[in-house]
Amino acid sequence: MGKLTGAEVAEHSSTASCWVVVHGKAYDVTDFLPEHPGGQKIILKYAGKDATAEFDPIHPPDTLDKYLDRSKHLGPVDMSTLAVEEKAVDPEEEQRLERVRRMPQLDQCYNLMDFEAVAKRVMKKTAWGYYSSGTEDEMTMRENHTAFHKIWFRPRILIDVEQVSISTTMLGTPVSVPFYVTATALGKLGHPDGEVCLTRASATHDVVQMIPTLASCSFDQIVDAKTPEQTQWLQLYVNKDREITRRIVEHAEARGCKGLFITVDAPQLGRREKDMRSKFADQGSNVQSTSGAGAVDRSQGAARAISSFIDPSLSWKDLPFFRSLTSMPIALKGVQRVDDVLRAVEAGMDAVVLSNHGGRQLEYAPPAIELLADVMTALRARGWERKIEVYIDGGIRRATDIIKAVCLGAKGVGIGRPFLYAMSAYGTEGVERAMQLLKDEMEMNMRLLGCTSIDQLGPDLLDTRGLSVHSVSGPVDHLSRSVYDPLIVPAERNLSKL
Ligand SMILES: Cc1cc2nc3c(=O)[nH]c(=O)nc-3n(C[C@H](O)[C@H](O)[C@H](O)COP(=O)(O)O)c2cc1C
Repeated sequence: MGKLTGAEVAEHSSTASCWVVVHGKAYDVTDFLPEHPGGQKIILKYAGKDATAEFDPIHPPDTLDKYLDRSKHLGPVDMSTLAVEEKAVDPEEEQRLERVRRMPQLDQCYNLMDFEAVAKRVMKKTAWGYYSSGTEDEMTMRENHTAFHKIWFRPRILIDVEQVSISTTMLGTPVSVPFYVTATALGKLGHPDGEVCLTRASATHDVVQMIPTLASCSFDQIVDAKTPEQTQWLQLYVNKDREITRRIVEHAEARGCKGLFITVDAPQLGRREKDMRSKFADQGSNVQSTSGAGAVDRSQGAARAISSFIDPSLSWKDLPFFRSLTSMPIALKGVQRVDDVLRAVEAGMDAVVLSNHGGRQLEYAPPAIELLADVMTALRARGWERKIEVYIDGGIRRATDIIKAVCLGAKGVGIGRPFLYAMSAYGTEGVERAMQLLKDEMEMNMRLLGCTSIDQLGPDLLDTRGLSVHSVSGPVDHLSRSVYDPLIVPAERNLSKL
C-alpha cells in the first residue's frame, strides 16, 4: 500500500469527514468526534493535519490502538507532502526559550523550592498552569506547606550520631528513605519522556513510584523502564465500567505492582481556576480546556476532560470488590477525616494516604500533617496503630517536613509537584538531584535531632502546640512572595486577535 499524501489527508478536515495524522500515520476519527473526552473542537483544530505535538502529552502511545477501531487506521502518510503550517512567531514562546537558555545549572539548585522557581520560568504556560494550580482560592494548597511551619522540634543532644540510617519499609518493601513519588497525571506536559523520568530517578535512589492511571506514558512503558529490584504501586481512578477497572488492576498485579492506591477524593474534579485561565489564553488549544462536544464549556475547566470516566458513585460498599480482584495491599488515597481512617481499618484496608490531592480538590480540606496528629491519637487510643499504615502527602518540600510526619506516626510521605518541577526543568537528572538533596537533608537533620534510625522518631521530638492555628492568609515563605502566582482577575480582551 502506498503512502497517503498530505493533500489527500487535508481533504478530510470537517465534522463530515475528519482525519488526523499522529506519528506519521493517518486516522479517521469522524465517528469518534462526539465521544472524545476532550470535546471535538480540539480534534477539529487539527483535522486534515498533523496532530502529534498536541496529542503526545495528553494520550499514552497505545491510545489509538486501544480505542480506535482498526478499520479507522488509514496507514502511513508521506510526511514530506504534508503542508507545514506557517506558525506566527509567538513573542511569549520566544521569551520562554530565552529563559530556557539562561536556566541555572542543575547544581545551583540547593533545595526543592529552587526547582519550583526555575520550573516556573522555563515551563510552557499550559504545563505550569496544570501542575501548579490548586482549587479555587488555593487556601488548602498553601496551607498544606505552611502547616509544617507550625511544628517545631525538641532535639536531643549528646547522642552518638556518627552512623545514621534513613531506610525503612513501606507496605512490606524495604526502601532507602521514607518518601515516595506520588501519582501525578500527564507527565509529558512537563518533559517529553514523561513519567519514565520519575521511574529512572526512583531506581537510582531506591524510592517507590506510584504510577498514575492518567499517565502520559502507557502503564507498560513505565513498568518496562523499571529495574528488577524497583518497587511500583498503582494509583487507581475507578472507572464507571468495572470491567475496565478489573483489567487495569489485574494487569498491574501481573506486571509486579506491589500496592493498589484507590483515589477517593475526586468524585468530581476540583475547580482549578489558574489552570482554566492559562487555557483560555491559548484559545482552548489544550484538551483539558474543553468539555463536551462542540461548544467549549470553560466553566468546567481543565482536567475534567481527561477524567470524565471516573465513577462518582464509588462508595464504601465497593471495597470488597477490590479485595476480590487482587492480593496487592490496598490503600485509600485522599482520606480527610479521622473517622474515615477508622472505617478504613474496619474495612480491612492495609493503608490510607491522608491527602487533599495537593490542594486541588476540596478547598478548606485539612492539611494532611495536621490531620495526621489527630488520626494517630485516635488509632493509638484503640490500640490500632499497627493495624494500618498511614501515609500523608501535600506540601512536603523539606526533609524536616518528612521527619515531622514520621515523628507523628506516618510510615512515609508522598511528594508530587517538586519532582514534576525538577523533571520539567532538568529531566531525570533533575529528579535524581532533588531526591539526593532530600536524602542529604534527611540525614543531617536526623543527626541534629539526635536520632540514628527511623524507628527512633516519635512525637516526643516535636512541639505541636501551634498546630491548631491556620496561617494561610499571613506572609508565609519566600515562595509565596517570589514564585506563587497571585490570584488574578480576567485579562483584557486582545482586540487585534478578533
Ligand atoms: C499535576 C498533578 C497531577 C495529579 N494527578 C493525580 C492523579 O492523577 N491521581 C491522584 O490520585 N492524585 C493526583 N495528584 C495528587 C498527588 O498524588 C498528591 O496528592 C499531591 O500532588 C501532593 O501534593 P504536593 O504536590 O504538594 O506534593 C496530582 C497532583 C498534581 C500536582
